Amino acid sequence: MEFKFSTKASRKDAIYIIEDAKDAVYPTGLSDAEAEYVRRLVKEEVSIIPINHYDSTLFMVSLPACNSQELLAETLRKKGADLCGRINALKLPDVTIHNTSSFGAAAIHLAEGLALSNYQFLKYKTEPSKKENRLKTIAFDKGSATKPQLAELQTVIDAVYAARTLVNEPLNAMTAVDLANAFEKMGKDSGFKVKVLHKKAIEKEGMGGLLAVNLGSQDPPTFTIMEHKPAKALNAKPIVLVGKGVVYDTGGLSLKPTPNSMDRMKSDMSGAALVGATMQAIAQLNLPLHVIALVPATDNRPGENAYVPGDVITMYSGATVEVLNTDAEGRLLLGDALHWAKRYNPELVLDFATLTGAASVAVGEHGIVCMGTADERVKTQLRAAGERQYERLVEYPLWSEYGEQIKSDIADIKNVGGPSGGAITAGKFLEHFTSYPWMHFDIAGVSFATAKRNYQTIGGTAFGLRMLLDFLQSYTA
Ligand code: BES
Ligand code: MN
Ligand code: ZN
Repeated sequence: MEFKFSTKASRKDAIYIIEDAKDAVYPTGLSDAEAEYVRRLVKEEVSIIPINHYDSTLFMVSLPACNSQELLAETLRKKGADLCGRINALKLPDVTIHNTSSFGAAAIHLAEGLALSNYQFLKYKTEPSKKENRLKTIAFDKGSATKPQLAELQTVIDAVYAARTLVNEPLNAMTAVDLANAFEKMGKDSGFKVKVLHKKAIEKEGMGGLLAVNLGSQDPPTFTIMEHKPAKALNAKPIVLVGKGVVYDTGGLSLKPTPNSMDRMKSDMSGAALVGATMQAIAQLNLPLHVIALVPATDNRPGENAYVPGDVITMYSGATVEVLNTDAEGRLLLGDALHWAKRYNPELVLDFATLTGAASVAVGEHGIVCMGTADERVKTQLRAAGERQYERLVEYPLWSEYGEQIKSDIADIKNVGGPSGGAITAGKFLEHFTSYPWMHFDIAGVSFATAKRNYQTIGGTAFGLRMLLDFLQSYTA
């Protein structure tokens, strides 16, 4: 999707955001009868009113009454998603948004929903043009957006598209090595540093968690380190992002069932996609923050040499783990990455992982389960970013009692915590490998959609990316 300012040559197809039935500013050229028609429908609370002219289509969008800015922004994104269907049904390639309302950011939020909703993954269709959305360009009338707003929107949308596409690629096109290569390309294209540790180096380091999960696989693991380091950073110590990069999770020998479970497990690298695409956005915006991202990656398979329930493994940190379920694999490779993060003496570490079905069961598709040891100021800022982007957070406690559930009879800890509090016991496991302010985001419930909902498209959603980027943009060390 391309965003630009409208010019004389722009097509006449347009969206007008209007505020109030009586005082609304109508486009010049609307007949009295048409204006009367719009007023009548606004009064009937019709919020999107199409007007067909012989040579163009106008959509009048009346601004809803909302209790908060956050809700208003989200309502506009949803209107954008609604408009996306209508615009593509008419095969319009280009629309111009005019904001005549008093809410300055209305056009940007509407365009954001429109663009998020226009995403498609057609790579494997033999005739993609038959399915392809025609909409390619969203133009803004001069007063409806600023240049920096446009540039920022472009960056956000490109990052979301990139993350969704990484998730949508199946395992046979996106192994751990492919994922690392994709990050290398993103780094080259948008200007951040990328270093990849391959299997030999991972063995030399002794990343026992990542290597144990990889045992059943024919394909080698990777460990990717990305870095954005501007000349003048606000933070003296880096912020570290960690993303779970399980490119496919069969469950290993603790094999998953197929329907509504293994069948979507190409998405188990959603955390990795999210942090990689965030690095792309950070570099493009040249954020004045020193940020490092880590992605431990492998598939989890029941191969001949696969690790088995009962194995005791030694993690990168030296801690021993009794593996009682090979499907609790994410915490093993994340534990190694969290231990690696200590070398940076980080100011803050944020990990994103499709970690537990329990998180998905608890809050469903509408929010992220988070927990951690960061201070209240950081938590407040994260929560606010989540509300602004409508990628909301629910904080769970890391009470020490939950730690009892992962004590092992024969090793330091075990990788399962029993039937209750599954999202939290997974978090307690991760906490074991941290020694710095840290937050864990369990995105298992939100990262993959099997049906389109508003501006969320089928497949990878990139849910959480806009929250994270907003948080980093408003971060003051
Ligand atoms: N990748 C899954 C979690 C998941 C579930 C992600 C549903 C997306 C949708 C993770 O590796 C896993 O299998 N977790 C287990 C842990 C259990 C064995 C302790 C789970 O949640 O069932
Ligand atoms: Mn698993
Ligand atoms: Zn997994």
